[in-house]
Amino acid sequence: MRLGPLIGSFTLPNPFFVAPMAGVTDRPFRMLCRRLGAGHAVSEMVTSKRELWESLKTSRRADHAGEPGPVAVQIAGVEPAEMADAARYNIDRGAQIIDINMGCPAKKVCNRWAGSALMKDEPLAVRIIEAVVAACAPRAVPVTLKMRTGWSASSPGGRNALALARAAEAAGVAMVAVHGRTREMGYGGVAEHETVAAVKAALTIPVVANGDIHTPARALELLRATGADAVMIGRGAMGRPWIFRDLVHLHEHGCLPPPPATRDVQRWLHEHLLDHYALYGEHTGVRSARKHIGWVVRALPGGEAFRQAMNRLETCDAQLAAVDRYFAELAQRHVQLPEARSGAANDEGPGWAVAA
Ligand SMILES: Cc1cc2nc3c(=O)[nH]c(=O)nc-3n(C[C@H](O)[C@H](O)[C@H](O)COP(=O)(O)O)c2cc1C
Repeated sequence: MRLGPLIGSFTLPNPFFVAPMAGVTDRPFRMLCRRLGAGHAVSEMVTSKRELWESLKTSRRADHAGEPGPVAVQIAGVEPAEMADAARYNIDRGAQIIDINMGCPAKKVCNRWAGSALMKDEPLAVRIIEAVVAACAPRAVPVTLKMRTGWSASSPGGRNALALARAAEAAGVAMVAVHGRTREMGYGGVAEHETVAAVKAALTIPVVANGDIHTPARALELLRATGADAVMIGRGAMGRPWIFRDLVHLHEHGCLPPPPATRDVQRWLHEHLLDHYALYGEHTGVRSARKHIGWVVRALPGGEAFRQAMNRLETCDAQLAAVDRYFAELAQRHVQLPEARSGAANDEGPGWAVAA
């Protein structure tokens, strides 16, 4: 197995990362992705606004109990000094790598756009990077940066990932990830990876390619085509965290493994839900778990009907029991997870009743 890049003193076990996604890659989901083979997992972004640190949402994001290292926490903000404080705060709570968010298209902090909007103000972006690196260096905590290809493909100088990546490397950043879209594109259009290849060619630190990787084959193809040191998968892992198991297998053996056993998927989801309820509690947990369950079942036989019925359940016990029944029934007809029909609900089989 090819090892992942070296970040500070951490050699990552492989070059297949799960991308940070607010509302998705919380600790339970990150741990699931890692168990299934992901070589690195960065937290959802944590705001640099001190007054929000004690909020339930932020304190949950800063809770890394039981998470295998290296624990990487992403911070978002627009003020260099605040970002430095946020880095120190998260290091005190267990962060071993700090990731700076310059990749998110929509994150407003105090009426100013953070995330990828910072790419439009390179001097400020560099001041933020320098302040965070200075805060992390005394604790020997490496800093990574996630960015887009730029802020606009149509404006002069708008595709500035290369310039910013060079500045980041000079400032002491240990790894750069590039999502192959400009900020202007949001999530529309198609990601391009020529820019990440150019960044990789120009830098000596590890570079990560990200954007529109939905299959293991595409991940390996991009690694080769861009020369990147790793790839990062976001939406392709939603409801399908075993994409990392498939990817590791493809990489090691040159072929995909058989689909996972339906009973294994049931077990993974069951364990994920228990972790999820433990972090969020009953009221929030049962609601926020619905999306994860929905992503897993949406293209499976009877999945859409099951999802709609499951969404009406109000307790963790009822939700968990319904999930177990759905998969037990599915396993009787499909020992291995049936190939999901992409983009569409799969309506084979009976309608799903979730009542006990
Ligand atoms: C729901 C959602 C939330 C996201 N939240 C973050 C975030 O908190 N920080 C960040 O840097 N990028 C965030 N992103 C961007 C992803 O990390 C990734 O760059 C993007 O989705 C492209 O990769 P993909 O095509 O594999 O999904 C988010 C994306 C999605 C879909």
